[in-house]
Amino acid sequence: MAVVSSAHSTIFSKTSLFHHINGFKRFSFCLPFSSSAVASLSSKKKWRQPVASSMLELGGIKIAKDDVVRDDPTNNVPDTIFSKLGLQLHRRNNHPLGILKNGIYEYFDTNFPNMFHKFDDLCPVVSVKQNFDDVLVPADHVSRSYNDTYYVDSQTVLRCHTSAHQAELLRRGHTHFLVTGDVYRRDSIDSTHYPVFHQMEGVRVFTPANWEASGLDPTSYAAEDLKKSLEGLARHLFGAVEMRWIDAYFPFTNPSYELEIYFQGKWMEVLGCGVMEQEILKSNGRSNSVAWAFGLGLERLAMVLFDIPDIRLFWSTDERFTSQFSEGQMGVKFKPFSKYPPCYKDMSFWINDSFTENNLCEVIRGIAGDLVEEVSLIDNFTNKKGMTSHCYRIAYRSMERSLTDEEINDLQWQVREQVQNKLNVVLR
Ligand code: DAH
Repeated sequence: MAVVSSAHSTIFSKTSLFHHINGFKRFSFCLPFSSSAVASLSSKKKWRQPVASSMLELGGIKIAKDDVVRDDPTNNVPDTIFSKLGLQLHRRNNHPLGILKNGIYEYFDTNFPNMFHKFDDLCPVVSVKQNFDDVLVPADHVSRSYNDTYYVDSQTVLRCHTSAHQAELLRRGHTHFLVTGDVYRRDSIDSTHYPVFHQMEGVRVFTPANWEASGLDPTSYAAEDLKKSLEGLARHLFGAVEMRWIDAYFPFTNPSYELEIYFQGKWMEVLGCGVMEQEILKSNGRSNSVAWAFGLGLERLAMVLFDIPDIRLFWSTDERFTSQFSEGQMGVKFKPFSKYPPCYKDMSFWINDSFTENNLCEVIRGIAGDLVEEVSLIDNFTNKKGMTSHCYRIAYRSMERSLTDEEINDLQWQVREQVQNKLNVVLR
């Protein structure tokens, strides 16, 4: 299950502005592009998810579609993402994500009765300050780029992690809390990556009375309690598994760790965590304290616990998927309802300096929606004139039915046209 363990795990463990993928620089703050035209094209087809009504209420805040999706260079939110905004899969008690959330709640309720305050309805539209500054994400960090994050405007984003709520909850006086929510990231396409997924954040604050009796310094005290608490959580979810702690980097914690478990023959990352940076506590009214924090991706764990092979399935409304899960039934194994064949289409083009794979994937998703299973770079070369060519293989597959040649050809034709027009690349 190596693929599963790679799902949505790396962005905050990166330290620098630019990273190189396949030898190419991915430029941050490349010009955002609007794909609303692409999405409206695709919404005509009957098999796609319906676009949500144009007014939503999220965490008590009313949001109109044109508050979030605008044809404006500071906005890069497509219709397809807006349509996911109010769905809140984590609040459905018989959905695998809701069942997992409740399973984690159960662990904290049993072991720390009445201690943790639970939030699962905080608005995913947050300020740049909440999402990044308040948790000390450096000004030049790659996660802030238009290539990686959905911007509503230059000061507002769709949260890309639940850590965005740490500071405000501390300021509101909370010292023990769990925050579950949908998070949004521009990304590549494969069976473990989807631009909307779900995370749970946990924070526990200690006061001097807690650590003074222990004989430990405050940081060691918090780190020990953190490890004990999270090892217990992993055992609650996975049984008597082998575990190991890996040193990690996150801007908001120091020291930082990742917890891995040995499961189904492989080491798998379960969560990121650490001792909260003092600066976050100080800025939010908790000077004389120490705290731990953790963040985990619900899809990654649910895919393993419920044997769900493709991240798109979480969004399926097909009864053959939804009827297999019920409230409180943790870890029931999903039985695939026959596997429909994939269809592969290749496309080659000369890229330009602003080309990124995330932009390509957004165009493709805007047209094919959940019918696209994977987009992979299969060839890449630079000629003597310095022009670089990429060849991408697109795998189309529905999890619910067979696709006809005709509809795939139609999708691919639209993809070629839109990729050329939106990304200004030259098809070969
Ligand atoms: N926010 C991190 C991410 O999305 C996950 C995380 C890591 C949260 C460490 C934390 C933490 O609270 O302490 O990748």
